[in-house]
Amino acid sequence: MNVVILAAGMGKRMRSALPKVLHPLAGKPLLQHVVDTARTLDPRRLVVVYGHGGESVPQAIAGDDLHWVLQEPQLGTGHAVQQAGPLLDDDVPTLVLYGDVPLIRAETLDRLAQAAGDDALALLTVELDGPDGYGRIVRRDGRIVCIVEHRDADPAQLAIREINTGILVAPTPMLKRWLSRLGNDNAQREYYLTDIVAAAVEDGVRIASAEPAQDSEILGVNSKSQLAQIERLFQARIAERLMEEGVRLADPARLDVRGRIRCGRDVFIDVGCVFEGEVELDDGVEIGPYCTIRTARIGAGTQILPYSHIEASAIGIRARIGPFARLRAGTELGDETRVGNFVETKNTKMRTGSKANHLAYIGDTSVGERVNIGAGTITCNYDGVNKYETVIEDDAFIGSDTQLVAPVRVGRGATIGAGTTLTRDAPGDRLTLSRTKQVTIDSWKRPARKNPRSG
Ligand code: UD1
Ligand code: CA
Repeated sequence: MNVVILAAGMGKRMRSALPKVLHPLAGKPLLQHVVDTARTLDPRRLVVVYGHGGESVPQAIAGDDLHWVLQEPQLGTGHAVQQAGPLLDDDVPTLVLYGDVPLIRAETLDRLAQAAGDDALALLTVELDGPDGYGRIVRRDGRIVCIVEHRDADPAQLAIREINTGILVAPTPMLKRWLSRLGNDNAQREYYLTDIVAAAVEDGVRIASAEPAQDSEILGVNSKSQLAQIERLFQARIAERLMEEGVRLADPARLDVRGRIRCGRDVFIDVGCVFEGEVELDDGVEIGPYCTIRTARIGAGTQILPYSHIEASAIGIRARIGPFARLRAGTELGDETRVGNFVETKNTKMRTGSKANHLAYIGDTSVGERVNIGAGTITCNYDGVNKYETVIEDDAFIGSDTQLVAPVRVGRGATIGAGTTLTRDAPGDRLTLSRTKQVTIDSWKRPARKNPRSG
C-alpha cells in the first residue's frame, strides 16, 4: 500500500522551539518511530507531509525511500493528505498515519488493512472512558455514518465513547475523489480528513473499523506531559520483552533503553541504568545501579559496579568494572580484567588479567597481560598538539603515582617505582624509578607566628 504520514502540524502545546515530531521518544524522534513502523509494512510509497519546522524535519529523519511533501500553509488533516495525492499509486490502498502517534504497531495496521480489503474505507477506532478532544465515531444501526470533531459535536455526540484515532486505510482513487470534495465549514475552518467518511457514505462505500490490540498504541503527543507518559509506556514494553527473554530487572519502571539492547540469559540490571546505541550483554552480566552504557559489548559473567560510564567499548568475560569507572571510546578490556573507581580509559587495550584498580588515566595505551597499574598512574599522552602511545608489556608492575610520558614503553616484567616520571623506555625485568633521594633536615624547625593576634 501507500503510506502517508502527517507531520506538518505545529504542536503549540509542546511550548518548544523543536518541531513536535522531532521530540525524542527513547532517544529517537517521534516521527522516526512512525517511519520505522511504516517501513515494516514494505509500502509501495512512503510519503511524509511536513510543514511546521520546515526543512529541519526532513533533515532529521533518515532514508532515501521517503518522499517529502511540503504542506504550506497547514489547513487541516484533509488538506495535508491532499498534498500527498500526486505521489500515491492508485493500484494499492493508502494508509494514513500520524507523525505524533508513535506507539502504533505493525500488527494493528495489518489488521486495519485486512478490514479495508480493496474496496472499503477502514477506520482504526477505540472506546475511551475519557474521549475528550477526539473526533467521535457516529454509528446508525451499527454502521459508521460520520465522524464529528469534539468542537463540532452536540451533547448527544459528546457522550459517544468510540473515538477516531485518525489512522485509516482507503482505496486510493476514491480517497483522492473524496479529498477534492472537502470543505472547511467547521469550528476550526480546516479541511478535515474525517469528512471523507460522510463522503464515502454518500457514495455507498462500505466503512469498516478495527481496534488496536492495546489502547495505548493510539496515544498522541500534544504536550510534554503526554510525551513523558508515552516514554514510560514505551520503556515498559522494552522491559517486558527483556524479562520475557530471561533478564532480571531490579525494577522494570526504572530502566531506560534509548537504542537497541540484546541480552543473554540471567543478565541482571539494577535500577537507574541508561542504555544507548547498540548494547550487547552476554550471559550472566550484572549491571549495578545508575550506570550509563552506550554502544558496548560486555562478555559473559562480567560485573559492572554502580555509577560506571561506558562508551564505545568492548569488555571480555568475568571482568569487574567500577564502581565509578569511566571507559571512553576505543577501550577494549580482556577477560578477567579489573578497572576500579575513578579510573578513566580511552583508546586503550588491556589484555587478560590486568588491573587498574584506583584513580588513573590510561589513554592511547596498549597494556599486556597480568599488568598491575597502581593508584594515581597517568599516561601523559598529549603534548598540547599531538597524541602519543604508551606500551606496557606483560607482567609489568607500575607503582603508584607514576607518570608515563608518551611515547614510552615499559618492558615485560618491569617494575616502575612509585612516584616515577618515566620519560624514556623502561627495560624488562628491572626496577626503574626517578626520584630525588629522601633526606631528613635535622636543623629544620616549624615556623612560629611572629605577631600573635587575637581572633
Ligand atoms: C485529529 C482528528 C480527530 C482524531 C484525532 C486523533 C481530524 C479533523 N481530526 O484531530 O478526529 O480524534 O486526530 O488524535 O482529522 N496535521 C498536518 N497538517 C495539518 C493539520 C494536522 O500534517 O494541516 C497533522 C499533525 O501534525 C498531526 C495530525 O495531522 O500529526 C493530527 O493533527 P491534529 O491537529 O493533532 O488533529 P486533531 O485535532 O487532534
Ligand atoms: Ca492531535
